[in-house]
Formats: sequence, C-alpha cells, structure tokens
Amino acid sequence: MNLNVNLQAKPVSSNGPTHEKVLSVTHWTENLFSFRITRPSGFRFRSGEFVMLGLEVNGKPLLRAYSIASPNWDEELEFFSIKVPDGPLTSRLQKIDVGDTVLLGRKPVGTLVHDALTPGKNLYLLSTGTGFAPFASIIRDPETFEKFEHVIVTHTCRETGELAYSKFIVDELMNHEFLGEMVEGKLTYFDSTTREEHARMGRITNLIENGELFNAVGLPPFDPAVDRAMICGSMDMIRDTKALLEKAGLTEGSNAAPAEFVVEKAFVG
Ligand code: A2P
Repeated sequence: MNLNVNLQAKPVSSNGPTHEKVLSVTHWTENLFSFRITRPSGFRFRSGEFVMLGLEVNGKPLLRAYSIASPNWDEELEFFSIKVPDGPLTSRLQKIDVGDTVLLGRKPVGTLVHDALTPGKNLYLLSTGTGFAPFASIIRDPETFEKFEHVIVTHTCRETGELAYSKFIVDELMNHEFLGEMVEGKLTYFDSTTREEHARMGRITNLIENGELFNAVGLPPFDPAVDRAMICGSMDMIRDTKALLEKAGLTEGSNAAPAEFVVEKAFVG
C-alpha cells in the first residue's frame, strides 16, 4: 500500500470542473475564435445549453458561462468566443493551442432549449455577435427539424468578417452528407451588418419592423399561433427584440413554463 501517494493526492471533488484537451482552434477575426475540446464520457446536455468553461490561473480555476456551440450528438464540444484584450479569461483563452488543457463545468443548463417552447411551425433564432453560439448547436440538432417546418437563424454583427463563423457553420450544415438533406428547404440563414457595407444591412429589430425578415423567408409577420423564437445577444438587443415579439402577442417561456419565446444573454467572458 502506498500511503504517501494517497495522502498527497488532491481530493477529487465530484462537483469541480474536469480537465479537457483542446482539439482545434480557429481564429475568425482579430476578436472572435472558436475551439473544440474533448467531451467527457457521461457529459450530457440539451442543444442550446451553456456550461462553465475556463482555465486554471495562478492555481485557481477561472470560469465563465459559455454556450455550447456543438449539437448534443457530437463526440466533441465546440465553443465560440470573443477575445477581450484585458478580459480576465478571454485574454488568456484566446492563446490556447491544440493539446492545451481547459476546465469544463459538469452541469450544463439554460433556457434556449426546445423544452422551454410550446409546439409551433416556424422557429426564429435571433442572434447578434457571439449570441450565435447556442444556435450553432440547435441548427445542427435533427430534433429541431423534426419539431419545426421552417427554421430561420439570424445573425447580425457590426462588420462582415464577424459573420464568418455563422456562415461557415450554415454552409457546412447545408453541404453535410446526412444533415444536408434534413435542412434542405427548411433552414434559412439571414445575416446582416450594421457598420460595414454588406449585402443586407440593419439591426434585426429594424429588419423585423420593416418586414425585410419576413419577405426574405416568405412568411407572414410573427404570429403566436405558429411562430416560436429564441433570442441571444446583448442586453439591449434582447430588450428591443423581446418587445417586438411581445407586441406581436408572443409570451416568454422557461423550462418550468414553456411558451412562445425564450431569451438568454450572449456571454462575453
Ligand atoms: P449597432 O452597430 O447598430 O449598434 P455589439 O457588438 O454592440 O454587441 O452589437 C452587435 C450587433 O448588435 C451590432 O450589429 C449592433 O448594431 C446590434 N445591436 C446593438 N444594440 C441593439 C439593439 N438594441 N437592438 C438590436 N440590435 C442591436
């Protein structure tokens, strides 16, 4: 019996984060990157949920809530992050490389999940900035297309380059060997910028109000009988987008009381 080793070993906490390996890192712009990590066996989540994620800094875990961008069937976990130069976590996290270790919380949670919505026909996923992350998970989950006839994912950023990740995810999905057929004719990608010239410009709130969103997808304006929505972005974007949904008669739901739309703040790490 090696008593020494046992006494010196760190107590294993069943609640603490697990150590996961970085499998790939992609830098999309100077301010945005995505990365994939190992998924521990037994790590279950519903597409659209978030989890605590981070690094060990000065011997202590530094964790922030991050939406899981990969769907729940994926063997790996994917995340989409902003880089904040003086951000306690993202200033460090942006430097991770393949083989590095990150810390992953054990309990994914969140409201941007199918369970928090009542059944409907059309699902609008409305995002700005890194708010696209949970929707990268939801649009890659076959359950989404079993539950809805049309899925419209919107992504608005200040500049065109910031749309690169969402464009890549949607292109990859549409060309996917198996999932491509599932989303064909059902998934619409609606992108726009607000501060740089782009094929479509404007805040999502303006594009809802002036009817451009509905014209593009060929559907009538929001109707609580058939439309469901999820919103993920900044506090201001959420407030204003939510007001438009409520004006159209949709009510906010939660895991405990499903309804017509759900919201979550995009995490800024
Ligand atoms: P804008 O450039 O007009 O502020 P941010 O980087 O500040 O989080 O913004 C991301 C995107 O969200 C930007 O295109 C921004 O447009 C847009 N946005 C900011 N505030 C709102 C809001 N209240 N309603 C809708 N869109 C918003």
